[in-house]
Amino acid sequence: MDARSSTFGTLSKKIETRTARAGIIGLGYVGLPLAMAVARSGFAVTGFDIDPKKIVALDARRSYIDAVTNEALTAEIDAGRFSSTTDFAGLADCDVIVICVPTPLTKHRDPDLSFVEATSRSIAAHLRPGQLVVLESTTYPGTTDDIVKVILEGTGLKSGSDFFVGFSPEREDPGNQHYHTATIPKVVAGDGMQALSLMKSFYGAAVSTVVPVSSNATAEAVKLTENIFRSVNIALVNELKTVYAAMGIDVWEVIDAAKTKPFGYMPFYPGPGLGGHCIPIDPFYLTWKSREYELPTRFIELAGEINSAMPRYVVGKLAEALDVRAGKALSRSRVLVLGLAYKKNVADIRESPSLRLIEIIEERGGKADYHDPFVTEIPPTREYQALKGRQSIDLTPEAIAAYDAVLIATDHDMIDYLTLLENAKLIVDTRNVLSRLGLSADHVIKA
Ligand SMILES: NC(=O)c1ccc[n+]([C@@H]2O[C@H](COP(=O)([O-])OP(=O)(O)OC[C@H]3O[C@@H](n4cnc5c(N)ncnc54)[C@H](O)[C@@H]3O)[C@@H](O)[C@H]2O)c1
Repeated sequence: MDARSSTFGTLSKKIETRTARAGIIGLGYVGLPLAMAVARSGFAVTGFDIDPKKIVALDARRSYIDAVTNEALTAEIDAGRFSSTTDFAGLADCDVIVICVPTPLTKHRDPDLSFVEATSRSIAAHLRPGQLVVLESTTYPGTTDDIVKVILEGTGLKSGSDFFVGFSPEREDPGNQHYHTATIPKVVAGDGMQALSLMKSFYGAAVSTVVPVSSNATAEAVKLTENIFRSVNIALVNELKTVYAAMGIDVWEVIDAAKTKPFGYMPFYPGPGLGGHCIPIDPFYLTWKSREYELPTRFIELAGEINSAMPRYVVGKLAEALDVRAGKALSRSRVLVLGLAYKKNVADIRESPSLRLIEIIEERGGKADYHDPFVTEIPPTREYQALKGRQSIDLTPEAIAAYDAVLIATDHDMIDYLTLLENAKLIVDTRNVLSRLGLSADHVIKA
């Protein structure tokens, strides 16, 4: 047996027998649920993060991610399968290392790979033969092979013989009650056949279905394709919303009827704009990479334009309704924005259009407060520093009645919509939630 096949064979055996130790780097929305799924499948897992507050919380058996309960976390810690640390020296003990760090955009909307690069350098400092290093962060095709692998090979060790490199995109859907990490099919790829084989057996242990593809770049493209598909389709219904509204047609009624077609149609819903960490950001990773090939990405950019125009469109509709129905200018009005999170039943406010709605209302001279049962206070954000520290107001009948209008931005299930309807002077519903609940009334408009 040569050194190459023995490195592969030893790691393969360790994965098969669950004696491999996994290291998950970046214990956020993606990394922590993944760490739990991998631990549950029988591997010992060490979680690594640069944020000491996260490690303190995890040591105290306190989860800060909705998808992971304190009980599930406690069970894995008590079983001796999960521990976490800020000390990256422990990477040397890990056989499989998975990178789940952020991939945001810079101020100029270019990919910011600084977290991936910093993590790759931390791994390189502890790299040894016989390790599998996997990137899970969403990124443009080529990142795993051109950045992660290149940094790791800077040690003198070679991918495909000394160590192995793979990519597997994350498909977490925060708040989804039907699917979780272990039951969502997982696309896997590797640099070479042996890396792919290790990827299949590692992920095959932790998730119910693995979907192998031929290269890391293909797997990176799969993830971008999924998110671009959503961004473009949401933009399409947002455009249709504005056109149909002008014609006096309710876009939600159109979609409900269209979706009865049993083939060739898939419903997407309009809203106040895109939010969350993925859909507003990921498509621009491909736009950036395409420039290298001198190819335009017109669909992606058009979708971005339409979706980012939505908060201003919604506030325009609000101003018009205040004017026509209450004879009041937005600049003299108090507005309650209902829902700060970017989607229902979660606490995540990253890229949430609600923040932009508050900002636009106030730019136009109005006064805006918010209510969100999941977000009691606005935390510091890079873009909306002026909103930091504002608190969710209590949604009492008296409080509702004191506002000139309520703008429903997020349709959380736990809101008492009947009380809202009975007490609000005017409601602008961007989610069609009142109609869905059979609560239509004259003082409700859709936007
Ligand atoms: N949130 C989602 O639903 C989702 C879904 C699919 C894909 N993704 C992708 O997964 C990746 C991670 O996203 P997330 O939502 O989990 O982010 P997150 O911000 O919730 O978590 C990232 C974690 O990485 C840590 N971190 C940052 N730099 C680090 C470093 N150098 N070393 C160790 N830890 C470091 C942070 O402290 C944080 O805890 C991104 O590429 C994202 O696009 C996210």
